[in-house]
Amino acid sequence: MEGLIFGSLEELPSVVEKLRPHRVVILTNTTLERLWLGKVMELVGGEAIVIPDGEEHKRLETAVNVWNMLVDMGFTRRSLLVGLGGGVVTDLAGFIASTYMRGTMLGLVPTTLLAQVDAAIGGKTGVNFRGKNMIGTFYLPDFVLIAHETLSTLPGEEVLNGLGEVAKYAVLKGKIYGMVRKFPGMTPELVRECALFKAKVVEEDFMEAGKRRILNLGHTTAHAIEKLSDYRIKHGLAVAMGLMVAAKVGEHLYGFDAGKVEELLNAFGLPTRHPFEAGEIVREMRLDKKAWRGRLVFVVPEDIGKVHVEEVGEEVVKRALEETA
Ligand SMILES: NC(=O)c1ccc[n+]([C@@H]2O[C@H](COP(=O)([O-])OP(=O)(O)OC[C@H]3O[C@@H](n4cnc5c(N)ncnc54)[C@H](O)[C@@H]3O)[C@@H](O)[C@H]2O)c1
Repeated sequence: MEGLIFGSLEELPSVVEKLRPHRVVILTNTTLERLWLGKVMELVGGEAIVIPDGEEHKRLETAVNVWNMLVDMGFTRRSLLVGLGGGVVTDLAGFIASTYMRGTMLGLVPTTLLAQVDAAIGGKTGVNFRGKNMIGTFYLPDFVLIAHETLSTLPGEEVLNGLGEVAKYAVLKGKIYGMVRKFPGMTPELVRECALFKAKVVEEDFMEAGKRRILNLGHTTAHAIEKLSDYRIKHGLAVAMGLMVAAKVGEHLYGFDAGKVEELLNAFGLPTRHPFEAGEIVREMRLDKKAWRGRLVFVVPEDIGKVHVEEVGEEVVKRALEETA
């Protein structure tokens, strides 16, 4: 993906300078305001808009407030909006930039592991509206700067949340699997490899008509688990549980070695067991009509680095769910 930069916040001035924006506005939240906004403004100047922290603020009302502030500031299409934060801020910044005056310049500085390897990559933006991410756009930013130092302030549970997606990439790509086995810590190289992998998959299928779907590995089950837990189980942990289920499905259908996934999740300190009954999860999966119109569609691993999408029989799914409960 063009405009994907790995390094440190120190790269910001030159990255911004290249775009020659008329003005720069940083969109961030109250947590990042305390931790990293000062440094960013020292480097690029500009003005800041600070929203409250939390997924519940990823909604239209917040976008409306920000649109109002941008109009008052005289923000134009030649201005640059920089989203500094986790996936909530980067999704919102993308949504706001893609809609304001039909699209302004946009830069993202993701500051959670999840946003660095997933949310800020691939041009999906959105807000929650009667359901998660119901309103949104596809809009590629002018740059995404992955500044490794920002992860230094990330709480352990947020690191764990991102590791769920890292484990997913390790199953999807042999090189990442190899790196993860050698270094069970989050190095800049590992973040880079994951982000580049997602960017490449997305480039081949921007609108999610085909290949991009492999990124849903583990997510059929994860979404059901998140819902059943009333979102008390965090996404990354649900993805870990879902990966284990997908691994078992792969084991039954193609002789995939599910032990490899279990080992990896254990090394990351991620859960390998889910707390629900197989029947409940299957029911919830079938309700997820938005995704698969009630069918049990899985990304199934045949081997590390080799997966495909298929509809799986209920018996196989139930067996995998029972074995991972
Ligand atoms: N657009 C996409 O393709 C895509 C993909 C995956 C997820 N998402 C979205 O991403 C969101 C989840 O993102 P998230 O997990 O980053 O959550 P988040 O943005 O809520 O961040 C998690 C918490 O960490 C804090 N934080 C962020 N950076 C920090 C830092 N460097 N130091 C200390 N604290 C920090 C945040 O303030 C927040 O409290 C969801 O809304 C999800 O829908 C989007």
